[in-house]
Amino acid sequence: MEERQVVICENLEAEVRTFLASLAYDKVFILTDTNTRAKCYPAISGIPALQGAPVITTEAGDTHKSLEALARIWSYLSEGGASRQSLLVNLGGGMVTDLGGFAGATFKRGIRTVNIPTTLMASVDAAVGGKTGINFNGLKNEIGAFYPPLRVFIDCRFLGTLDRDNILSGYAEMIKHGLISSMEHYTRVLLYDIDTMNYAYLNQLVGQSVAVKERVVAEDPRERGIRKALNFGHTVGHAYESLSFREGRPIPHGHAVAAGIVSELYLSHRSCGFPKEKLSQVVRYIKEYYAPFPFDCGDYDTLYELMTHDKKNEGGVIRFTLLGDVGDVRINQSVPKDAILESLDFYRENFGV
Ligand code: GLY
Repeated sequence: MEERQVVICENLEAEVRTFLASLAYDKVFILTDTNTRAKCYPAISGIPALQGAPVITTEAGDTHKSLEALARIWSYLSEGGASRQSLLVNLGGGMVTDLGGFAGATFKRGIRTVNIPTTLMASVDAAVGGKTGINFNGLKNEIGAFYPPLRVFIDCRFLGTLDRDNILSGYAEMIKHGLISSMEHYTRVLLYDIDTMNYAYLNQLVGQSVAVKERVVAEDPRERGIRKALNFGHTVGHAYESLSFREGRPIPHGHAVAAGIVSELYLSHRSCGFPKEKLSQVVRYIKEYYAPFPFDCGDYDTLYELMTHDKKNEGGVIRFTLLGDVGDVRINQSVPKDAILESLDFYRENFGV
């Protein structure tokens, strides 16, 4: 049986220690950002194989997922004597795992990487599945590679250091995994009370959520087809996110995805018969936890234009991933422009904005 790439840890230190002890490599390097260097590195620094390992620390924040930061990592690896037999351990959120993953993909044409995600977003999405890259020319993830890490070690203990917005951001991807997978998983995700934050239970839920992503990625690692399921909520969601940035009132990625899920469930209902009661159920859940994202009909042209840049589009036509029901994924769906605008109305009407 093939080994799972993702390990859900009860004891991160022990899992990583055992793994590194069983692996042949010449040198190991650690990548952190300024936050994870201070808050998370102590959780792994006692592992014998990591004692004395060089720590490369990059600035925190998505703006630093840049060519300059990448070049600094390449220089560090090169000057530190890294070879193709070396290992790069990425300790951080999605910014660190994307950047370090791409550094690993490109240094000497590829060295092995290990991801230790420290945010919920990275645990259930960014650190898993092999998408790596940097922002370029003002465009998010414009340059990158599909380059799976050797292992991903997830420990929800790190989530205790995150604020509520950060947790909610990752949880939006878990709602998405619930919707694209099965009624069983969907129900569990929608029953979870984010306010009480039972970390032990969250660890289990994260394990199930990541397994949804792993199954999809195993079937279609390079996003030729069914991997587009993982983009549910993201066509409209990315447009909301970009609008928020353009207007200088940025919202976290997952909050934009939650709003995008609302609009795309409306489209799913209208075009693919997604059941109305489930639509209402998800809208209620998102309304309960996520702040509304205000915009008005003067923003519709911009939002539509932003959707025309989505990576899933073909021949200039906006292609959505929609749902006929929970677990019934329909990729490459085109819908009339008036329906897309209605989906923006639907969001505004339900969220009172
Ligand atoms: N975040 C979507 C994917 O990894 O395909």
